[in-house]
Amino acid sequence: MKGIVHVIAEREYDVTVDCDWRNEFRELVAGRSRVGIVVSAAFRSHIGDLPKVDAEVHLLEIADGENGKNFATLASLWNSLGAKGFTRSDLLVAIGGGATTDIAGFAAATWLRGIDWVAIPTTLVGMVDAAVGGKTGMNSDYGKNLIGAFHSPESVIIDMSWLATLSDRDFSAGLAEVAKCGFIVDEKILTLLTNKTISDLRNSRDLVVELITRSIQVKATVVSTDFKESFAREVLNYGHTLGHAIELHSKFSLRHGEAVAIGMVYAAELAHHKGILSLQLLTKHRELLTSLGLPIGYRADAWPDLLPLISLDKKARGSTVRFVAISEVGETLRLGGLTQAELARAYERISS
Ligand SMILES: NC(=O)c1ccc[n+]([C@@H]2O[C@H](COP(=O)([O-])OP(=O)(O)OC[C@H]3O[C@@H](n4cnc5c(N)ncnc54)[C@H](O)[C@@H]3O)[C@@H](O)[C@H]2O)c1
Repeated sequence: MKGIVHVIAEREYDVTVDCDWRNEFRELVAGRSRVGIVVSAAFRSHIGDLPKVDAEVHLLEIADGENGKNFATLASLWNSLGAKGFTRSDLLVAIGGGATTDIAGFAAATWLRGIDWVAIPTTLVGMVDAAVGGKTGMNSDYGKNLIGAFHSPESVIIDMSWLATLSDRDFSAGLAEVAKCGFIVDEKILTLLTNKTISDLRNSRDLVVELITRSIQVKATVVSTDFKESFAREVLNYGHTLGHAIELHSKFSLRHGEAVAIGMVYAAELAHHKGILSLQLLTKHRELLTSLGLPIGYRADAWPDLLPLISLDKKARGSTVRFVAISEVGETLRLGGLTQAELARAYERISS
């Protein structure tokens, strides 16, 4: 049943969960003269015929996944918008995974210093995380998501039917962000996920709708309190400090969510080592994420490459690396002042 989560950021908008994207699209486009639909060439066939609307509709195809989160794609989107005469009152609609909504949102943020955009996420990561919260951007040769802008969408539309074609691997990757919301804020999410396999979850539509809605509520609450990332918003980066480094190091052969799962176990190891987190909760990280089909370790030989990447992460301040950690479910804190030996020892415990 259709539900709405309201987000208050630099603009207010609704995330509509469990709806028919075509109906919502028609309503959102009403009154616009020009709409650009950003979709990856690889995903185009999933969309089928575009809904008939009065506006002029332009399909803007980009490269798939992380291959599209770069300057070449951004420049090609700018060129298309310029060639087709997009004005301030026109609309961009991104349909796809988090990579597509990130770069399309960034094009919307930068074209004419900001035009409206709508996110229609089609992966679980996109639904529970990437499309909500107003962070848009792209990768740099020096790290993930280093270039970007805060630019909230006008609306986020979540149609559960997209999930049918998502691979188990991508479904699991999305569950990492769901589990993250459980660890940092909402214990009920962890309860709902416990003892569930991927196939249990994929066969329980109502449960997935509840998990998605709860995760979005966590993000919406945090973002509504702190749009531009002082510590309140930083908690959403639980697992992301090492996660982003691993994602980059793996040359994106690991999914974002998979890397975040490893990063959460690493943050839990650090917190446990500091006496902040119980062994029981550390074990819970390992068991829950494993049961969801997620990796919890990475290559031992990668550490010398990962350390400089961690230092470049946006959560680093000056030359100090710091991590988001938890002491209990729902109790977050900053963990800084760690020695290189402590960082390396914790990595040994998650490396294979
Ligand atoms: N802006 C944010 O706040 C934020 C938050 C989290 C993640 N992100 C970003 O999101 C990206 C990861 O998103 P992702 O996991 O969605 O990956 P993705 O966008 O790379 O998509 C993964 C693959 O799934 C395909 N796909 C998309 N929907 C599908 C469907 N319904 N069925 C079958 N295949 C489908 C895509 O074409 C792609 O090949 C990363 O770049 C990450 O940095 C951004």
